[in-house]
Amino acid sequence: MSFTVQPAPPSRPNRCQLFGPGSKPELFEKMIASDADVLNLDLEDAVAPDDKVQARANIVEALNTLDFGNKTVSVRINGLDTEFWYDDVIDLIEKTGDRLDLIMIPKAGNAKDIYTVDCLVSAAEQKARKTKRIGFECIIETAAGLAHVEEIAAASPRMEAMSIGPADYAAFMGMQTTAIGGTQANYAMMEDPREDGGTRSRHFADPWHYPTVAIVAACRTHGLLPVDGPFGDFSDPEGFKQQALNSATLGMVGKWAIHPKQIALANEVFTPSEAAVNKAKRIIAAMEEATRSGAGAVTLDGKLIDLASIRQAEVVVKQAELIASN
Ligand code: COA
Ligand code: MG
Repeated sequence: MSFTVQPAPPSRPNRCQLFGPGSKPELFEKMIASDADVLNLDLEDAVAPDDKVQARANIVEALNTLDFGNKTVSVRINGLDTEFWYDDVIDLIEKTGDRLDLIMIPKAGNAKDIYTVDCLVSAAEQKARKTKRIGFECIIETAAGLAHVEEIAAASPRMEAMSIGPADYAAFMGMQTTAIGGTQANYAMMEDPREDGGTRSRHFADPWHYPTVAIVAACRTHGLLPVDGPFGDFSDPEGFKQQALNSATLGMVGKWAIHPKQIALANEVFTPSEAAVNKAKRIIAAMEEATRSGAGAVTLDGKLIDLASIRQAEVVVKQAELIASN
């Protein structure tokens, strides 16, 4: 272990972040009634420019009047290159009480972006005599965001989570795709030419792998929750689930939903199964027994387990306990 201990991320469930545009207040009650852990009310790209002011007012009213229960409530503000973000922040702090939990900063490009929002939020909170401190989450969805992902993760003690935004990421990286997440038909590996001249197999590769791992590493280093972003084709549950399984396997804790159909799928993938929890508990028990008898590595079900296996198993057990306790 490094002498610098990896900090724990916020201890709250984040399996599904359900989005709804601030310009569609009729969705807010439905969002609250859903099984999503986090609700993201959007002021950014799901809201047309002419609707920005009304959407902001809708969200302020909702935060003051609706009962959000035990949901984590987040508002995605507009980008720092727009005329809107300043009023977004000021109104969210000055015109609402203490229900807002997080501000989501889109298209974060470097640590200064986070610092700038922190500076404004801190002054506004002081002026409004707020005792609750709002947390931040951000989206890594530009080339600069990916290049500076670690400094962004470390930019403020307010930071709680980071998501990958595959649509903007693809655009800013100049990728040749218009899909929001998922398999890209042109991104594959071809089997070497076959000696028998037969048809070569083609294996799809994952264009989101690198940014996903970069985000997970930055988040885990600085105690944030890494989250998978949207999957645009809400009529493709299999595709959504595969994407979620991929990001769960790589260490992410949850995924966005842009339609109610995607919530149960995300909750299923990011809740450790009973079988996985039981297996993890058996590993921990076997290693405890091994430690008592002085062994560092032992065999369980014909496979090696050692002290690292305990840490792996504890990830599963702790995640299950966190979800069960909420
Ligand atoms: N949250 C809660 N409920 C939602 C919802 C959401 N995000 N999106 C749709 N619903 C509701 C609908 O109101 C409808 O309810 P009803 O059965 O009571 O009439 C039901 O779910 C089925 O909706 P459907 O008709 O299939 O979808 P739609 O055409 O109304 O809306 C979208 C489709 C994609 C426009 C809509 O889901 C949406 O706005 N999603 C969020 C987009 C967003 O915020 N993007 C930003 C992040 S990428
Ligand atoms: Mg985006």
